Amino acid sequence: MLKPLKKAVLPVAGLGTRFLPATKATAKEMLPVVDRPLIQYAVDEARAAGIEQFCFVTGRGKTAIVEHFDVAFELERTLEARGKLLELAQLRAEQLDPGCITTVRQQVPMGLGHAIWCARSFIGDEPFAILLPDDLMQCDVSCTAQLAQAYRETGGNVVAIEQVPMERVNKYGVLDIDQDMGRLVSIKGLVEKPAIEDAPSNLTIIGRYVLMPEVIGHLAKMERGAGGEVQLTDSMAKLIGTQPFHGLRYEGRRFDCGDKLGYLEAQIAFALARPEMAAQVREFLKGYV
Ligand code: UTP
Repeated sequence: MLKPLKKAVLPVAGLGTRFLPATKATAKEMLPVVDRPLIQYAVDEARAAGIEQFCFVTGRGKTAIVEHFDVAFELERTLEARGKLLELAQLRAEQLDPGCITTVRQQVPMGLGHAIWCARSFIGDEPFAILLPDDLMQCDVSCTAQLAQAYRETGGNVVAIEQVPMERVNKYGVLDIDQDMGRLVSIKGLVEKPAIEDAPSNLTIIGRYVLMPEVIGHLAKMERGAGGEVQLTDSMAKLIGTQPFHGLRYEGRRFDCGDKLGYLEAQIAFALARPEMAAQVREFLKGYV
């Protein structure tokens, strides 16, 4: 019987060099979009998919991420005393159950694959989701919930995918497609950051995955790939042929908030999606364009 998907790993130990100096003393994952940090969007998305246990792979300077999910006792008392009950109710509604967050430390950011390997004890022998919080998703149905559904249908590994212009494939993990069934594609190979002329397609992996625990055995070999990093894509590729492996054309939009332009676009898109702000945002944007 298929094991239920209850666990998620959120790697947050990267250096965020594309966002310096903002990320010098602050974690990239704490950058807000409108009024919520990126990490909060990722956790909410995972909860909407039925995830109950979270593992943050953290590193130096990332403590604020964990603190964000603590009960802010003094703040709550102050809000109560000032009659700010709506704000208080919202904080409490977003509170995670005690004990459902674990953190592990990745002392040196050796790559995404290495970060996932650091969560091996948490993962154990269960399927798990991965959410890269700097990929911010705007979807009617949580992107991780879409992946969870595809996992139940296919019984194996599923990665969220999207098409990018051919000249940008060298920035992504790229799919070698076996069979294209529309919403789902079966995969016969994966290659991380290929040269444009060698890319097997322009279907690329975004920062959302559901993987089987066997990937850990491959990660443990610590083989270095593109950019000298331990690449998750390389170990995922080794599962192909031994387990079902599919790409899912998810429904929704992705914003690369690790990138300045992507982050700016996310601010606008998420502000426009908020009924209390949309009209004003539209109005002031007109003044600029
Ligand atoms: P990125 O590729 O965006 O790297 O990582 P980065 O270091 O965060 O940012 P840049 O490229 O230097 O600007 C994708 C995700 O994987 C995590 C990051 O925190 C991010 O969520 N990551 C990456 C780790 O946790 N450890 C690593 O060694 C590398």
